Amino acid sequence: MSETVKIILEGKEIELPVILGSEGEKAIDINKLRDLTGYITLDIGYKNTGATTSKITFLDGEEGILRHRGYSIEELADKCSFLEVSYLLLHGELPTEAQLKDFEDKISEHTLVNEGLEAMFKAFPTGSHPMGQLSSMISALSLFYPKSLNPHRDEDAINRTVIRLLAKMPTICAMIYKKRHGHPIVFPRNNMDYVTNYLNMTFGQVTEPDYTPDPVIVSAMNKLLILHADHEQNCSASTVRMVGSSQSNLYSSISAGINALWGPLHGGANQEVLEMLEQIKEDGGDVEKWINKAKDKNDSFRLMGFGHRVYKNFDPRAKIIKKACDDVLEKLGVSDPILEIAKKLEETALNDPYFVERKLFPNVDFYSGIIYRALGFPTDFFTVLFALGRLPGWISQWQEMRREKQPIARPRQIYTGEAPRPFVAMKDR
Ligand code: MLT
Repeated sequence: MSETVKIILEGKEIELPVILGSEGEKAIDINKLRDLTGYITLDIGYKNTGATTSKITFLDGEEGILRHRGYSIEELADKCSFLEVSYLLLHGELPTEAQLKDFEDKISEHTLVNEGLEAMFKAFPTGSHPMGQLSSMISALSLFYPKSLNPHRDEDAINRTVIRLLAKMPTICAMIYKKRHGHPIVFPRNNMDYVTNYLNMTFGQVTEPDYTPDPVIVSAMNKLLILHADHEQNCSASTVRMVGSSQSNLYSSISAGINALWGPLHGGANQEVLEMLEQIKEDGGDVEKWINKAKDKNDSFRLMGFGHRVYKNFDPRAKIIKKACDDVLEKLGVSDPILEIAKKLEETALNDPYFVERKLFPNVDFYSGIIYRALGFPTDFFTVLFALGRLPGWISQWQEMRREKQPIARPRQIYTGEAPRPFVAMKDR
């Protein structure tokens, strides 16, 4: 393959380098394009534009491949704990037993939330959206750890911030759940593993002995968090990199990522799935009717939780999560009309030529919403769980951007507004 491409612009021929990724991905390096030609490229939404090279995650949308640091998502989800995968994303290698123990111990030392932060949290309106509470709390951590703000941060200070974020995120997520139910906060227990501790803080009660979740639930939660851990340059990860590129601190960068994930077109999709299922249930549960509405080009209704921007045939995460979903529903013996509707939708989408031809397969958001509902999470809390899983991925992307000393992100534009015109005084407008 050629190492350069030639472009002829206004009769002038220029050569631009070609970048070849370790999995055969190809890119034209346009870093010098504007200097050489005065031209920029335009790619609204950056769907054809690489913002960076990266060693963290590889995904192949056509083949349904997702790997983290070279390991397949299937093996990681099947053989690792969430903290093992978090370590892999952050450090580039799977931890030894000693490294994982040290990582877990460091995290367990920082699981409590400062009393001042808890006081701020108590002022949040009870019914406020969990994602707004989460992004506010994570941003506010920077107020309590001012040394994290140093733009020329030393590695130790940053590593402390990384540990604090991983340690406090489950505690904060559980606090938000408790606030929703008007229950007292359950403090972290450092004798529990990461996921069990999170489940205990969430579903346990201060008046009862420690919550002992069913191993099937712990396994499903580990898998769910692993499946959401990173997904290369998605909207929220790109936001974290963008904010971090200005040398803003890690707390504020992660808070920005949480706010990007909040959107219904991104992390809010699992919430949209359940709201769609609720809508079908409220309408009498006639799945066939809603399938036909989704097919009707004159009808604005679209199936949420089906298809994907990047995966063209199937979302590898969905295959894994479907099994976990079936296990959880069987274990919990859940009988829920919403979940019955979901199963009918899934069966139709997997067999109806209309959906098969359009690659509208159930994606990770479809199944995660079902599991979260079966576990008892309120619908508007689902994206908080997505954020809990995505945290190590966001941090890894931010670290990679910083360690490579990437410049501040500053995209260009093509101006299409008014030509120069004389100012008009108020009396003449
Ligand atoms: C994700 O996991 O971030 C979502 O699938 C969205 C994406 O990758 O664009």
